Amino acid sequence: MSFPPAIPREFWGHNFDSPVMLASGTAGFGEELLDLQCLSGVGAVVSKAVTFEPRAGNPPPRLLETPFGLLNSIGLANPGVYHVLKHILPVAAGLPCPLLINVAGESVDEFADVVRVLEGSSAHMGYEINVSCPNVAEGGAAFGVDPQVVLRVAQGVSRVTDRPFSVKLTPNGGDMVQSAEAAVEGGASAITVCNTFLGMHINWQDGKSVIKRKVAGYTSPALLPLVVAKVWQVSNAVSVPVISSGGVSRGDDVLQLLAAGAQMVQVGTRLMRRPFAAAELIDEMKKLTGE
Ligand SMILES: Cc1cc2nc3c(=O)[nH]c(=O)nc-3n(C[C@H](O)[C@H](O)[C@H](O)COP(=O)(O)O)c2cc1C
Repeated sequence: MSFPPAIPREFWGHNFDSPVMLASGTAGFGEELLDLQCLSGVGAVVSKAVTFEPRAGNPPPRLLETPFGLLNSIGLANPGVYHVLKHILPVAAGLPCPLLINVAGESVDEFADVVRVLEGSSAHMGYEINVSCPNVAEGGAAFGVDPQVVLRVAQGVSRVTDRPFSVKLTPNGGDMVQSAEAAVEGGASAITVCNTFLGMHINWQDGKSVIKRKVAGYTSPALLPLVVAKVWQVSNAVSVPVISSGGVSRGDDVLQLLAAGAQMVQVGTRLMRRPFAAAELIDEMKKLTGE
């Protein structure tokens, strides 16, 4: 790799407008952004997580702003794979950029079951397999913390699709490098580094967590150095591209993640304040690199 890194525009053999992807859960399926014209410059959209059955999600509050970041406890709310296939993907087919569908499950088999149904659509380029959710059948720890489980999930997905897929790992427990290696062995075409960090906000007056499910996912620009380190470790260990996810708020951050070894860089929480964040990041990058 040469430095400063060139801004990559090719991924999985396709040309992308930019290396900036909209992170899962922060942009729906992209279809609601179409009319707002805020997909300009976006390399790809990653959808909200899709599960086999519809999920109502967690009780409110689902979002809690903290002085330096955001706690979220959405609970994978989504209308289920058949609704997505019939009603959302036909609209999302009109996106001006590629779509990856984020897939979640409660059992190893559910990931492949969801993908098998989604194969009925041509609206998406590939998948992001979210192994950060709890493995209910095996005690509730995230799938991603156990490389053997990650291997089985990736193998299951490989069996039902020829489309590329990234496995999105959790930073909460386990060894991310070992899980990434297992995902690649199972057929993953990329690794997304990483999902949210566990966080909590406790009301000291009554000792209760403000978030009803107690722990939540924490995101913050302050986490960027943690993500940079994980991206650097994983990208040095695996042969497939790494997609970073976490901590981005400036063009400088995107360039740093590319220098750490990421090939694509997701932005999520930033979109809630700045729906045009992707275009802004790309402008900032171009100014910094003179491209
Ligand atoms: C409100 C919200 C919902 C999210 N939903 C999902 C999800 O459904 N699936 C998933 O893999 N990640 C989900 N994430 C995690 C993001 O995709 C991303 O990995 C994380 O927010 C880190 O990026 P950021 O620091 O740019 O926000 C969600 C994050 C937020 C803030």
